[in-house]
Amino acid sequence: MNKMMKIRVTRYRPEQDNEPWFQTFEVPATQDTSVLEALGYIKDNLEPSLSYRWSCRMAICGSCGFMINGVPKLGCKTFLRDYFDEPEVHIAPLANFPIERDLVADIGNFVEKLETVKPYIIRKKEKSTDEGEYLQTPAELARYKQFSQCINCGLCYAACPQFGRNPEFLGPAALALAFRYNQDSRDEGKSERMEFLNAEEGVWSCTFVGYCSEVCPKSVDPAAAINQGKLVSDIDYGLNLVGLAGGKK
Ligand code: SF4
Ligand code: FES
Repeated sequence: MNKMMKIRVTRYRPEQDNEPWFQTFEVPATQDTSVLEALGYIKDNLEPSLSYRWSCRMAICGSCGFMINGVPKLGCKTFLRDYFDEPEVHIAPLANFPIERDLVADIGNFVEKLETVKPYIIRKKEKSTDEGEYLQTPAELARYKQFSQCINCGLCYAACPQFGRNPEFLGPAALALAFRYNQDSRDEGKSERMEFLNAEEGVWSCTFVGYCSEVCPKSVDPAAAINQGKLVSDIDYGLNLVGLAGGKK
């Protein structure tokens, strides 16, 4: 089925616009036209000045996150056929972030949060390469594998009402990432991360709305990681009381 679709995009060019505005285009769509391809059609044929972010076109790089009819989604993984019955498709930059330009959200705050939680394996003493690799059983891998599938797309932040209210909240992906490394049998850096997880802007700021997990395109389930992180935080608090843990609360 071929169909002409109305695509409304948010426009904002800070050098000339005081506030965001909308521009509507007619775009030809088939069963296989993705939202990202629709934006490509607009840029190539109708409005070359339109700015948006993308790279892989296969739900890997995480850069094409938009609000599509109000829902955070990847443009390359969302198809216009799902909107054939809608009067139009509105594509806007990710919610809860400042707009940098048109459909490009400024996600600097999000990237800083990912760095904050020390997302790498920490060893008290590194082995030399002669001593071989750090081995791990399939069961040990299974404890964190799901949480390692994150592509840093930021959709969960656009979905999170707590992050919308308080940009200091570490948020779903960063907390899931911290949990992922804390669960890794090769890692010895948990006590360094607990300081961030136990803090006011850590796991306890989450009110378990769960929309982050609903919109995640990789089934990471950050809400589950945060919930389990609360349990770990409670245990860490108890250990702190008896002087046996490194995290603060
Ligand atoms: S947890 Fe899911 S929604 Fe959040 S950044 Fe990672 S992949 Fe994207
Ligand atoms: S373009 Fe890479 S995730 Fe969509």
